[in-house]
Amino acid sequence: MNIEGIISVSYIIATILFILALGGLSNQETARRGNWYGITGMAIALIATVLGVVTRNYEYLLAALVIGGTIGLIAARRVQMTQMPELVAILHSLVGVAAVAVGFANFMDPGRLTHYVGVELTIHDIETYLGILIGAVTFSGSVIAFGKLSGRIGGKPLTLPARHWLNLGLLIASIWFGYQFVVQSAAGGGTQELIIMTVIALLFGIHMVMAIGGADMPVVVSMLNSYSGWAASATGFMLGNDLLIVTGALVGSSGAILSYIMCRAMNRRFLAVIAGGFGTSEGTVVVSGEDQGEVDPILPEETAGLLLDAKEVMIIPGYGMAVAQAQHIVHEITQTLRDKGVNVRFGIHPVAGRMPGHMNVLLAEAKVPYDIVFEMDEVNDDFPNVDVSIIIGANDIVNPSALTDPDGPIGGMPVLECWKGKVSIVLKRSMATGYAGVQNPLFFLENTRMLFGDAKDTLDAVFKEI
Ligand code: TAP
Repeated sequence: MNIEGIISVSYIIATILFILALGGLSNQETARRGNWYGITGMAIALIATVLGVVTRNYEYLLAALVIGGTIGLIAARRVQMTQMPELVAILHSLVGVAAVAVGFANFMDPGRLTHYVGVELTIHDIETYLGILIGAVTFSGSVIAFGKLSGRIGGKPLTLPARHWLNLGLLIASIWFGYQFVVQSAAGGGTQELIIMTVIALLFGIHMVMAIGGADMPVVVSMLNSYSGWAASATGFMLGNDLLIVTGALVGSSGAILSYIMCRAMNRRFLAVIAGGFGTSEGTVVVSGEDQGEVDPILPEETAGLLLDAKEVMIIPGYGMAVAQAQHIVHEITQTLRDKGVNVRFGIHPVAGRMPGHMNVLLAEAKVPYDIVFEMDEVNDDFPNVDVSIIIGANDIVNPSALTDPDGPIGGMPVLECWKGKVSIVLKRSMATGYAGVQNPLFFLENTRMLFGDAKDTLDAVFKEI
C-alpha cells in the first residue's frame, strides 16, 4: 500500500473511532470508554496527518505543537471543575480563529489562481468565504460566551432597538459582499470584501451572544459547539482534508442535536433563543412587588434528624454543589443513609450547573453509583412520595415560577417539582438568585427550610450528626 492508501485507511479508522466515541459518551457507564475511543482516534488522525500529509517545514510544526500542547496542558491542569464551561467556550473560539486563519492563508496562496479555474475557482472561493464567515462568528460569539459564563460580562441581555433588522442587515451585507468577493477574486482582487465580511461576522457573533439572556446560555454553549464543528468542516473543505470534513460534521450535527435537546429541556424554541432578550443577572436579590414572606431556616443537626427519619430522600444538585465542591461529602452522606436503609436518589435537571452533564460528571467523580442517579423526567412524578428533598446549590431548576409565570425569564421551563414532597431543604449561602436572576418562591413555602452556608461546610456538619 502506498502512503496515500495508509493515510486513507488511518482516516477511516479515526472516523469510526470518533463515531464510537460519540456513542460511548451518550451513557455514563460507557463514557470513559467513549473518551478513550476519541483519544485514540485523535492520536491516529494526528500521526497520519503529521507523517503522511505534511511534507516539509517540520520545525514550525514541532514548535507549534510544543507551544500549543504546553498551553493546553497547563490550562487543563489549572482549570477548576466550575470553570469547565468557560474553558469549553474559549476552546470553541480557537476552532473559529483557526478557520479564519486557514481561510485567509488559502486566499493568499499564490498558487490559487493557477490551481483552480472557472467553476472550481468559484467553488473554492465560496468555501473560503463561508469558512471565514462561520469561523469569525464562532470566534467572537465564543469569546462573549466565555465572558458571560465567567461573569466578566453580565448575564443581562443586550437588546438594541431594531436588533432583528440589524441582524438581517448584516446577513444581507454578508451575502452581497460574498457575491462581490467571488466576482473580484477571479480577477485577482477580493481582499477588501473578505476583510469587510470578517468584520461583519465578528460583530454579528458579538451581537448574537450579547442579546441572549442568562437563562438561555445552555443553548448558546451547545450552539457554539455546533458552529465550531461546521467551522472545522469548512476548514476541511478548504484544505481538501476528508477527515476534518467528517469530524467537523460530527461535531456540528451532535452540537445541533444537543441544542435541540437543551431547547426541549427548557421548553424554548431555538429561534426564540437566538432572537434573544431573556434573563437578567445572576446573584442579585430581586425585590418583587408583593411580599414573598419569611423564610424558615434550619440547622445541620435538625437536617440530619429529618434525613435519618426519612424513607425516601431525593437529592437535587445544582451549580452551587460544583462551586462548593461538595460532591464527595454528598457521596458519603448518601452511602451512610443507604446503609441505614434510606432510599436515596438523585434527580438531575438537564440544565443543572453550567454545562450539559455537569452534575453527572461531578457525581461520577465522587463515585456515586449510576443506578441511583435519575433524569428529571424519571423522578418528577415521584415527589409526593418523597420525605425529604435536599437541594444543594440549585435554584432555577427548582423554581416553581417557571410553571406559574409563563412570561418570566424561565417561564415554561420544566423544573423538579420538589415542593410536592413533604419537606424541601435548600442549601445555599444567601437569598441571592441563580443564573437567570429571578426570585424563587420555593424558599418561602411552608414546607421549605433553608440551610444557609457554603454547601460543603453545612453538609460536613450534617454528616457529623449522621
Ligand atoms: P443556579 O440557578 O445558578 O443556582 C445556583 C445556586 O447555588 C445559587 O442560587 C447560589 O446561591 C448557590 N450557590 C453558589 N455557590 C454556593 C456554595 N458554595 N454553597 C452553596 N450554595 C451555593 O443553578 P442551577 O439551579 O443549577 O440552574 C442552572 C442555571 O444555569 C439555569 O438557569 C441554566 O439555564 C443556567 N445555565 C446552564 C447551563 C448548562 S448547559 N447546564 C449553561 C449556562 C447556564 P447563593 O449565592 O445564595 O449561595
